[in-house]
Amino acid sequence: MADFLGIADLGRDGLRLVLDLAEQFRADRSHRSDLAGKTIGLFFEKPSTRTRVSSEVAAVELGAHPVVLGQNEVGLGTRESVADVARVLDRYLDLLAFRVFDHAGLVEIADHSSAPVVNLLSDLEHPCQALADLLTIEQTLPIDGSLVTYVGDGNNVCHSLMVGVAMLGGRVHVVGPAGYEPKAQYLEMAKLLAKSTHGAVHVGTDLSLVDGADVVYTDVWASMGQEADADARAEVFAPYQVDGDLFARAGADAIFLHDLPAHRGEEVTDAVMDHERSRVFDQAENRLHVFKALLVHLLG
Ligand code: CP
Ligand code: NVA
Repeated sequence: MADFLGIADLGRDGLRLVLDLAEQFRADRSHRSDLAGKTIGLFFEKPSTRTRVSSEVAAVELGAHPVVLGQNEVGLGTRESVADVARVLDRYLDLLAFRVFDHAGLVEIADHSSAPVVNLLSDLEHPCQALADLLTIEQTLPIDGSLVTYVGDGNNVCHSLMVGVAMLGGRVHVVGPAGYEPKAQYLEMAKLLAKSTHGAVHVGTDLSLVDGADVVYTDVWASMGQEADADARAEVFAPYQVDGDLFARAGADAIFLHDLPAHRGEEVTDAVMDHERSRVFDQAENRLHVFKALLVHLLG
C-alpha cells in the first residue's frame, strides 16, 4: 500500500486523479459508502482545527470509522517507541494518519506499518494542505503556466505547495528573507519536477517576485514549535507582510491564499484576508474534499 508522506508520493498521475475526484466530491457532498467497514486512525501531536475536523468528517462521509488520538494518550516516543506504536496501530486500523513534529518519525511509522500512512503535517511537509491549495487554485485558473508566489517562511507548507505546483506545470516564486528559504532538497525536487512539466521555480528576497502573480500565498512566520522565536522572526519577516500594497503588485485577477490559522496583522492584513479575491475559506473547505479523495485513492 502506498504512503502519502509528501506531495510527490502521489506522482503526477496520482495527483491528477486525486484532484479530479476531489472536484467531484466538492460538487456533490452526499454521503457515500466507499469506505464502509474501514477504520482510520488520526493522530495529533500538535494542535489542529482544519485537519482534525476535515479528516474526521471525511471519514464519516465515506462510511469509514475514524479514531482520533492525541499525544497525551498515546505518548508517541515517550510512553512507547514510535516503531511499536506503529506496529500496534497497524493491527487495528486500515490507514494511519499522523500530525507530528519530526518528519523522520513519520518515516519510521511508515517503515513499521503495512497500512498506508498519511502525513497530516510534519516539520517538512503538509501535503494534504497542498492538495487543497491546488484544488482551490484550479477553481479559478489552470495551474499549468500560471504563477504562484509564496511570500514568507520557506516552511512545510511552502515545500509541499512548491513541489505540487511544479508537478502540475505551474511557475513558483518563493520570496522571503535570506536564511529562511525552503530546504535545498525540496527546492531541487521542485526544480527537477518543473523541468519535466515546463514549470519553473525561483527563490529570492526581492518583493518584485510578486509582480504579476496569479496567486499570492502566505503562511505564519513562526510555525508550531517555533513559538520561542516568534518575536525575532516577526522583525525579520516584517517587510514581507502581505498587505494591500503588496497584493496590488500581483495580477489584476490574482487570488490570495493562506493555509490558516492566519495571524492577522502579522503575515497578512485584514484588508487582504477579507479581500474579494481572498479564497482562504474555500481553501479551508477544500481540505475536506481532498481528504475524501485521498482516502478513496489509498483505500478504495
Ligand atoms: N491548515 C491547517 O492544517 O490547519 P490546522 O492546523 O488547524 O489543522
Ligand atoms: N506552517 C504552519 C502550518 C500550520 C497549519 C505550522 O507548521 O505551524
